[in-house]
Amino acid sequence: MTESPVADLSREAAEAELARLARALARHDALYYQGDAPEISDADYDALRRRHADIEARFPELVKPDSPSQRVGAGISEAFAEVRHGVPMLSLDNAFSDDEVRDFAARIARFLKLPGEELIAFVAEPKIDGLSASLLYVDGVLEVGATRGDGRSGEDVTANLRTLGEARIPSRLKGSGWPARVEVRGEVYAPTDAFTAFNAAAEAEGRRSYANPRNFAAGSLRQKNPAITAGRPLNFFAYAWGEPAEGFSETQAGALEKLAEWGFPTNPRSVRVEGAEGLLQVYRALEADRATLGYDIDGVVYKVDRLDLQARLGFVARSPRWAIAHKFPAQQATTVLEGIDIQVGRTGSLTPVARLAPVTVGGVVVRNATLHNEDEIARKDVRIGDTVVLQRAGDVIPQIVAVVPERRPADALPFAFPTHCPACGSEAVREEGEARRRCTGGLICPAQIVERLKHFVGRKAFDIEGLGEKQLVAFHERGWIREPADIFRLARDKEQLTALRAEDGYGETSVANLVAGIEARRTIALERLIFALGIREIGEQTSLLLAREFETWDSFDAAGREAAAGLPSAAWTALANAPGVSARMLALMAEATPPEADPWLDAPLDQKIALALPTLAAPARRALAGLAGDWDGLRRLLVIARDEGPSETLGRIAGVSGVGPVAARAVAEFFHEPHNRTVVEALVAELSGVLPAARPQTDTPVAGKTVVFTGSLERFTRDEARARAEALGAKVSGSVSRKTDYLVAGPGAGSKLAEAHKHGVTVLSEDDWLTLTGG
Ligand code: IVH
Repeated sequence: MTESPVADLSREAAEAELARLARALARHDALYYQGDAPEISDADYDALRRRHADIEARFPELVKPDSPSQRVGAGISEAFAEVRHGVPMLSLDNAFSDDEVRDFAARIARFLKLPGEELIAFVAEPKIDGLSASLLYVDGVLEVGATRGDGRSGEDVTANLRTLGEARIPSRLKGSGWPARVEVRGEVYAPTDAFTAFNAAAEAEGRRSYANPRNFAAGSLRQKNPAITAGRPLNFFAYAWGEPAEGFSETQAGALEKLAEWGFPTNPRSVRVEGAEGLLQVYRALEADRATLGYDIDGVVYKVDRLDLQARLGFVARSPRWAIAHKFPAQQATTVLEGIDIQVGRTGSLTPVARLAPVTVGGVVVRNATLHNEDEIARKDVRIGDTVVLQRAGDVIPQIVAVVPERRPADALPFAFPTHCPACGSEAVREEGEARRRCTGGLICPAQIVERLKHFVGRKAFDIEGLGEKQLVAFHERGWIREPADIFRLARDKEQLTALRAEDGYGETSVANLVAGIEARRTIALERLIFALGIREIGEQTSLLLAREFETWDSFDAAGREAAAGLPSAAWTALANAPGVSARMLALMAEATPPEADPWLDAPLDQKIALALPTLAAPARRALAGLAGDWDGLRRLLVIARDEGPSETLGRIAGVSGVGPVAARAVAEFFHEPHNRTVVEALVAELSGVLPAARPQTDTPVAGKTVVFTGSLERFTRDEARARAEALGAKVSGSVSRKTDYLVAGPGAGSKLAEAHKHGVTVLSEDDWLTLTGG
């Protein structure tokens, strides 16, 4: 979507856009911090934040208390209990140059009023690129382990930390002389080799891989199921403590020794040195050895050795005055971009990947770099043949920072992002608000087919007995099943069935059962067939609504094809999605006659809109004026609204109660792709009957009534309750209001029961409900 300048935004448009941006930011924050899998580049993220900040600056009255601008950092995920740290976990100030390190040492000397010639002793420690953890030991026993969180409180990941094992995180401190309460702190990290091996295996098996060892360590530690963490190669280095504030040693070096005696790994490259020049020597040595350490470090941490001096130096804001992190510069190199490959993910999303002339960056040979998405390529204007600057900042997959314009070949053309899937040739479309294009050929696309076939045979779709994921994957690998129709062909294919017995060790009965399982599904309910196609946005419930509306496969198929022919143009879609544009406004615009001449030259545009669309409310009028800009712009928008909008059929699908425009568009896009039509035709040709959807009954005691279920139900599951109630013609709702007819309350019912009493709603026990419905 093209952005209007902030200065031109109406208050309504600003409000709508702020809401949209807040949702997007929340989603990307969650992916980054909690899912540990960012989907957009840092630059794209920053652009979103900047736009949000600009709009808030222009409309300060729209700043909400829960606005992204009022929040900092990760926050705490809801999956784990909160742990308050005994002593806050602070962060470190950074130094990027030798001079900043000399300033740091001089500042300390001044603060402590030490004589000029006296060198201060420091401990220099590798700055491990992982995530920090705090382990509380009471009387030597591990009580709780937590992530850093916001510094004051973190997440309780005790069970996950225990899986690192006794040699890394002892459940009981070794040795003696430990304080009765001590918070041992350090870094959880993943060794680079183990990380690379994990990613290679994950990619080969189609599981999720991680961008760098730090994301991998964070993602592995923050698993809800500790068994998953246990399978991940995590390690730990202890380097600090929270409680007790007065410490248990006189120096940092002494404290590291104690931590080692108590059973924690400490970093063998941590050393005590004197003065700034001593620190810089350690820095250079670690920088040189960085690629061979076996784990990622992103700098060196310098800490004043004597703890009494640390206490005198104290803290500035959120970091100690007695320590600093000397960061390594991002590792950069230049190379030539030889090509841009498009990878198709298992869900069909297209990701551009740079193919590079091999080059060494920070000790690692790099051949590929991510380009994130098509906007990123356009913004950086990256062209094939360009010389590009690469950067690795902890990431295994490096980033392209910029192109070197002077080295651009004369014939380099801007990159045209493919509009078709490279894996299957189907059209690839980009949905409003999505960063990436998506292949629409799900049922035939080799990149997606296994996922789609699994969905197809799933319990809520064709549910074929004897054909689970395992068999499906095996048959796909043999080249027997490439599309749904092949499943039914298999049941008739003598050669394949013989091969199953001869080569795969199937017994006669197993083959017969498999064939029977497949044959039994040649007759299928329409809602299952629709759901099985795996159309985006079309879940189980929507499939049922569509099946009830269209009654037969032929009429649904015809509607899908007609809707595909009448897909709205890109211009209409942009108009319909512009901030401040409502469905009612679109409808009024579609009916208005776009006038030829400007009726009233000097009047403001929103007054003229009042003439053309007299029933449009003032705020909507202003939004439209902002969008149109001038009279000609308005005329153009009215023509688009009239001529380029969705066809009537698309409207009919969208109009089915509970379906809506987004799902309707997804149906149209599915049928728009010729490959999908071919695959569906082949499938339907194999079927012997499609049964109409079960109609809700109208002659039952609960037909037309609204029912709410609450409490922990004991006689049936909630899904069963809903399905049965709906089959009997009742409407099931999630909340109690005056319109509710029955509240079915199981044990432990709370606020809904109170609501029901307030509104005089009839309350039934589970047994009453069964009696009423004859169950
Ligand atoms: S000391 C009050 N030592 O760096 C200072 N931190 O930017 C507490 N880190 O959150 C930190 N290696 O995750 C310290 N040897 C080390 C470290 C280290 C890595 C991380 C740690 C901290 C961040 C501070």
